[in-house]
Amino acid sequence: MSDQIDALLTENREFPPSSSFRKNANVSDPAIYSKAKSDRERFWEGWAEQLDWQTKWDRVLEWNPPHAKWFIGGKLNASYNCLDRHLDKRGDKVALIWEGEPGEVKRITYRDLHRDVSKFANGLKKLGVHSGDRVAIYMPLIPEAVVAMLACARIGAVHSVVFGGFSSEALRDRIQDAEAKVLITATSGYRRGNLVPLKKVADAAVADCPSITDVVVVMRRPAAEEADDTLRMQTGRDRWYHEVLHDADDNCPPEWVDSEHMLYTLYTSGTTGKPKGIVHTTGGYLTGCIATTKWVFDLKDEDVYWCTADIGWVTGHSYVVYGPLALGATVVIYEGAPDWPKQDRFWEIIERHKVSIFYTAPTAIRAFMKWGEQHPQAHDMSSLRLLGSVGEPINPEAWMWYHKNIGAERCPIVDTWWQTETGAILITPLPGIVPTKPGSATKAFPGIDAEILDERGNRVEVGGGYLAITSPWPSMLRGIWGDPDRFVKQYWSKWPGIYFTGDGAKRDEDGYFWLLGRVDDVINVAGHRIGTMEVESALVDHQSIAEAAVVGISHDIKGTGIAAFVIVKESQRAAAIKDPAKFEQELKQHVTDKIGAIARPEKILVTIDLPKTRSGKIMRRLLRDIAEGRALGDVTTLADPAVVASLKERYEEES
Ligand code: WT7
Repeated sequence: MSDQIDALLTENREFPPSSSFRKNANVSDPAIYSKAKSDRERFWEGWAEQLDWQTKWDRVLEWNPPHAKWFIGGKLNASYNCLDRHLDKRGDKVALIWEGEPGEVKRITYRDLHRDVSKFANGLKKLGVHSGDRVAIYMPLIPEAVVAMLACARIGAVHSVVFGGFSSEALRDRIQDAEAKVLITATSGYRRGNLVPLKKVADAAVADCPSITDVVVVMRRPAAEEADDTLRMQTGRDRWYHEVLHDADDNCPPEWVDSEHMLYTLYTSGTTGKPKGIVHTTGGYLTGCIATTKWVFDLKDEDVYWCTADIGWVTGHSYVVYGPLALGATVVIYEGAPDWPKQDRFWEIIERHKVSIFYTAPTAIRAFMKWGEQHPQAHDMSSLRLLGSVGEPINPEAWMWYHKNIGAERCPIVDTWWQTETGAILITPLPGIVPTKPGSATKAFPGIDAEILDERGNRVEVGGGYLAITSPWPSMLRGIWGDPDRFVKQYWSKWPGIYFTGDGAKRDEDGYFWLLGRVDDVINVAGHRIGTMEVESALVDHQSIAEAAVVGISHDIKGTGIAAFVIVKESQRAAAIKDPAKFEQELKQHVTDKIGAIARPEKILVTIDLPKTRSGKIMRRLLRDIAEGRALGDVTTLADPAVVASLKERYEEES
């Protein structure tokens, strides 16, 4: 980490907003920072007033640390705010421009989306889904996925979207934990020209999910093309999405819910055990989404907005669905891979649909850099006016490449820091106000109190420490589904009443934040969170593995990759060393099967011992050094117990 800090300290390029951008920006007066600070509640209330409420709140905030309630007494509906309220003025405006990976394009107006959501909401009601019931969504990025989310919101049901790249076991665990009643899925989805057999994976998961009464299936391809095996529908349990829609009435009045009514749960990895369901509620969450979408992305009615995230992640919830749709934007969604059929697919999409706001992740930017600037150069991307980055620290080289090759040195870049738990962006430049520095997420959004704290909770003015949020904010998580103790322990126990982010960061002389990565046992692989423990349990689940330790190692494209050290069971050793390459493949595949491809280790190192501290903690820093080739030099095996012992001694002396 200290190398990283040193590198960042030498970064002194600065990019102030251009006068033309500033002139038209949604917000350009720096005084809004102090104004928001002087009356935080009033600031957020002003944003809440930009939503449509059926009943207005009587109190803005009730804060009993760590429990917050926002806009108490207010009643609203998220789908009403994303759809109905636009119908008068924007009924014929395109809400979604969808591209399937094979090349289909669909344009769906606000009126069409409203009709489908209303119908599907009625369909869900017919299946017995009531307000507060959980509905799992396991889908590719197709318009029906957005319909499914908003239909849940319309009737007060809680959606739990599970990324379509997760394995059947991962899906099963999430459905079981949330006790979802209905699962919405698709026959398949496209990825790099291949069909991902979602329905099959879902079948395997649902076999162990007694809470599921019904499975609704979207036919991804024309009926004639669907292969027999994906069409295996279970009578009484499975039904087609298009039939549900066809049979349903298109009038579905929204269910007015309390501001604090749960909108969704979304599972994310933590330091211990299985992924936890982060709970978000309605009024405060939507308030955070619209405030940040309008100011950070400078969203205007005429923009074509594209956030490349999948709806399986929080970015897809807040910045594909709720933020932009609540503001009546035209949103681009694309189902597939950035390099399909060629490495210029994203630039082709930007040109074809005249995208003006583009929001993606550093891992994607690093891949684009590797593929070369000839790809963006082959396309007219003059429609772009703002770029965003999210998910992990963006290295200054990637930032500069993005600025030059995608932004034509004209578009401001907003590097946005936030988390599944925070619901909305908390640290970011406001593009019409804040000069940017490559690699820095700059400043807290107005109305957000972010600090660097040391171990004991003392404020660090300039320098490194833990990133903490010291006052409540509207879109903050309200808890962990089914685990109130863990909520308190995980986020609010390091310093009582203060939110611990799990990230290390540094603040420079200008008060800018520089994010340095996780300080806990969470690895950020290509912008996705994976717990080291999850991968370790997947590995020891393999019949040959006795013990496993997982660390993050630096990776050119992913930022961080996964390296696993494994101890093979005595009885299995002979078999394992017979064909080490095959054994390594087998273990990697096992992790993919247990969790999903995003957790697949880059490297597996077989060892006969793991270095542990006297108190039994695995010495991860030592393992990282070994995996990255530092501690052992050329020798990359821990086959000799004496080597482990001597390394351990050396490291214990150092620390
Ligand atoms: C973790 C949260 C928030 C949407 C996507 C990820 C890292 C996120 C940045 C950024 C540096 C970042 C942090 C954070 N992170 N954005 N702009 N700069 N780091 O959501 O899966 O909940 O992961 O992602 O480490 O804690 P998530």
